[in-house]
Amino acid sequence: MSSNRKDDHVQLAEELTTETSTARPTGGFHDLRFMHHSFNGLARDAVDISTTVTGTHWDVPFYINAMTGGSEKTGQINADLARAAAATGVAMASGSVSAALRDPSLEPTFRIVRDSAPDAFLFANVSPEASVEQARRAVSLLDANALQIHVNPAQELVMPEGDRDFRPWLDRIGEIVAGVEVPVVVKEVGFGLSRESIVELTARGVTTVDVSGRGGTNFIDIENHRRSRQEYTYLSGWGQTTVECLLDTLHGDGGAPEADILASGGVRTPLDVVRALALGARAVGVSGHFLHVLMTDGADALVDELTAWSDQVRTLMTLLGAADVPSLSSTDILVTGETAEFARLRGADLQALAHRRTAAG
Ligand SMILES: Cc1cc2nc3c(=O)[nH]c(=O)nc-3n(C[C@H](O)[C@H](O)[C@H](O)COP(=O)(O)O)c2cc1C
Repeated sequence: MSSNRKDDHVQLAEELTTETSTARPTGGFHDLRFMHHSFNGLARDAVDISTTVTGTHWDVPFYINAMTGGSEKTGQINADLARAAAATGVAMASGSVSAALRDPSLEPTFRIVRDSAPDAFLFANVSPEASVEQARRAVSLLDANALQIHVNPAQELVMPEGDRDFRPWLDRIGEIVAGVEVPVVVKEVGFGLSRESIVELTARGVTTVDVSGRGGTNFIDIENHRRSRQEYTYLSGWGQTTVECLLDTLHGDGGAPEADILASGGVRTPLDVVRALALGARAVGVSGHFLHVLMTDGADALVDELTAWSDQVRTLMTLLGAADVPSLSSTDILVTGETAEFARLRGADLQALAHRRTAAG
């Protein structure tokens, strides 16, 4: 292990993803199928893949989600990610700015994101431990369009040096929402936001959340590898998958929470993007997979990947007869396997989901 936690995270995310990506099913996406209908009634060129996030128009409905910054190496990764975002019109989040808020010598490893992507939609990222003043500084450091606050209790508890007192989190989130001048998105880090958690956030003024569910990068595994005895191996499957989270927000008992939903966690293909959009996400975040492309094949390959994903999202929307992102909510989705069991237990109407096209007329 290196002496820097951010470098450890990148190295372990890469090692563990490479080891498990083919062996393990991802994010529950394998339990979702679209019903194929032969007459989609569309011309591909007329399909609009744009979306709206926190009131801003995005040309592309997926984004590079929070990862790096805080060390020389991760500053370089931030520069490569941001250049790829700028070249392809994709939005991007920095990793947690907390380290630079404590040590200003690390600020350039975050500022490089804005320098490399002057016109991109950027999120700064802080923890719910940040003061309102620190949250404002994080936004200003990146000249960010919006702020992400990550909630990661499972990671903190397994992290040897992590937080142990979570009592102030919800109230602090409310203070940050009231005290910063940009929109705030609260996100998990791969364990999933439950409907109940989202309701607690909306009561504090949060209007957009990223459910960031299980199935991709796994911070229990990553932090467990940083422990000398690695005693938390059994906790690897903790949390809800991304698809479970989306079904929970879309169809749960008690109605949907009043927040705009973003999705991330285990997204590895353009089909996963379209699946998440069809389950109500306004946009879809990707971390581990894009990092893997960058680390394995380099910055040009990431630009090619982002371009190919936009192109394929358009193709898939054409196949599904969806002229724009909101129209994906009229696609018929068949939910099977463990995900269907979860959804039934949480009160989802899976029959209705399988017959949305007819219901939409
Ligand atoms: C190397 C690495 C570092 C990360 N650091 C952060 C972080 O600083 N803040 C945060 O909110 N999420 C962080 N994440 C979590 C991601 O934003 C995302 O929620 C999670 O990885 C699930 O998405 P994935 O399966 O596409 O990787 C990190 C992920 C990776 C791979």
